[in-house]
Amino acid sequence: MILEPLIDPSSSEFKTNQSVMRARMAELKKRQSAVYSQGEKSVGKKLSVRQRIELLKDPQTEFLELSSLAGYKVYGENSPAGAGLVTGVAQISGWECMIVANNPAVKGGTYYPLTVKKHLRAQEIALENKLPCLYLVDSGGAFLPLQAEVFPDRDHFGRIFYNQARLSALGISQISIVLGSCTAGGAYVPAMSDENVIVKNQGTVFLGGPPLVLAATGEKVSDEELGGGELHCKTSGVCDHLALTEESALKKARQIVSRLKNEDKKPYFQKEPKEPLYPLENLYGMIPPNLKTPFDMRNILSFILDGSEFEEFKPEYDKSLLTGWAYICGSLVGVLANNGVLFSESALKAVHFIDLCDSRGIPLIFFQNITGFMVGRQYEQGGIAKHGAKMVTAVSLARVPKFTVIAGGSFGAGNYGLCGRAYQPRLLWIWPSARISVMGGEQAGSVLWTLKKGTGAKEEEIKKPILEKYEKESDPYYATARLWDDGLIDPLETRKVLAMGLSLAGKAELLPQKKGIYRM
Ligand code: COA
Repeated sequence: MILEPLIDPSSSEFKTNQSVMRARMAELKKRQSAVYSQGEKSVGKKLSVRQRIELLKDPQTEFLELSSLAGYKVYGENSPAGAGLVTGVAQISGWECMIVANNPAVKGGTYYPLTVKKHLRAQEIALENKLPCLYLVDSGGAFLPLQAEVFPDRDHFGRIFYNQARLSALGISQISIVLGSCTAGGAYVPAMSDENVIVKNQGTVFLGGPPLVLAATGEKVSDEELGGGELHCKTSGVCDHLALTEESALKKARQIVSRLKNEDKKPYFQKEPKEPLYPLENLYGMIPPNLKTPFDMRNILSFILDGSEFEEFKPEYDKSLLTGWAYICGSLVGVLANNGVLFSESALKAVHFIDLCDSRGIPLIFFQNITGFMVGRQYEQGGIAKHGAKMVTAVSLARVPKFTVIAGGSFGAGNYGLCGRAYQPRLLWIWPSARISVMGGEQAGSVLWTLKKGTGAKEEEIKKPILEKYEKESDPYYATARLWDDGLIDPLETRKVLAMGLSLAGKAELLPQKKGIYRM
């Protein structure tokens, strides 16, 4: 079936939606460009982190940047831009690779807690999609004032090296280019890479820098003598290739990638790609400014799917959840998109559809605008808890690559059923119109007020701070700053990022199918 957007571009509804979304986009671009400008800053004579990436990747190819707003205002007004790290997927010598690049212009490229999280997430994406990793190292190591939140726990700094060993054992190549400091634990990044390149008189690798050596042993030694390129390439063997300039180091890295044993992934069921039928910029007019205004996801899908075509599965059964097949830039996908609260029937329909796609090896794409599962006596009697549980089981066990787009609300167990972060979608993107929390602020305030009634507390005193807190914490910038997603994107880029994600995922090597227990 060919979808047709139901909101007329000449209507006032369209115009209001469009102008609110344009304003939101202007805000997003403003915040992102503040981060980009930090990536364009160079330290001394060094290239900026963005210049480095540009030289490393194939010319005129896209860089799929991840979580550019990581750390946004998390550590106060001086929070490190992008958490001091640029990550993303780029094509290098014809192969899709993960780039993890420290930004030395932001607090010496040190690792805040969210820098570690961003680095680990990049490694996870590399693992799931079998992507070679290129580490552009230039960092002062752990951000020392926050050591307790960076150093000791499972998913802290040490996990980076644990992952390096695991990736290596799985045959995923890792290359380091030492463009600045690699101090203390950071020394293991190049040391645990398959091959590395170091820039003479610029890159250094040591477990303890000159000040520490002086304090510990009284030995006076310069950076270059202690851990410079010549020492490591000629004497210690910690590094493999000595480069005289950054440019030649990055060129060397491209050469290394060109001779890696890369997996030539097979694409999913392919067809000739077809553009959607409607002008992309009209997509803004489909998204109401207020989440309380329901909208038909078909309106959104008509701007994203090839030829605006959507073959619905069970269109007559449960109108709340849309399920069906479509192509995105030529790749066959199963789409689940919700048009309202989830009922038992929605959950059962989802389980059937997810299992169908999983057994046929078709990747799944979830579009969320969900307030949660239906509540009330009638629905509990109908077993909504056990039906929702089956949906969560099916989403958890699906072996095919999953992708999630949070277009509007993402509340309660709806977030789970529609493949929220915990359900390991390969990539999860959010729109500026997204709101994410366990429930709405008003509902949370009412729940807490019900519990406090009769204790002498005043209704307003209970509800107001909760409402304000939920308002702040469900904001999309709050989410993206904490890496609850892989990036806050312009809705107009959705089709492009999904297509890139599908290309990365390649054809999944499906593990043998295993079923959990479905409560009937
Ligand atoms: N923890 C906290 N802050 C750090 C830091 C660390 N590990 N390393 C650097 N910084 C801060 C600096 O204090 C400075 O802050 P400011 O901008 O507020 O003044 C900023 O990061 C930039 O550092 P600076 O030394 O001015 O930059 P540089 O380019 O001359 O040198 C380094 C960068 C990384 C070589 C140098 O800062 C350094 O040697 N840091 C310590 C490295 C270390 O011993 N790490 C061990 C941690 S495991």
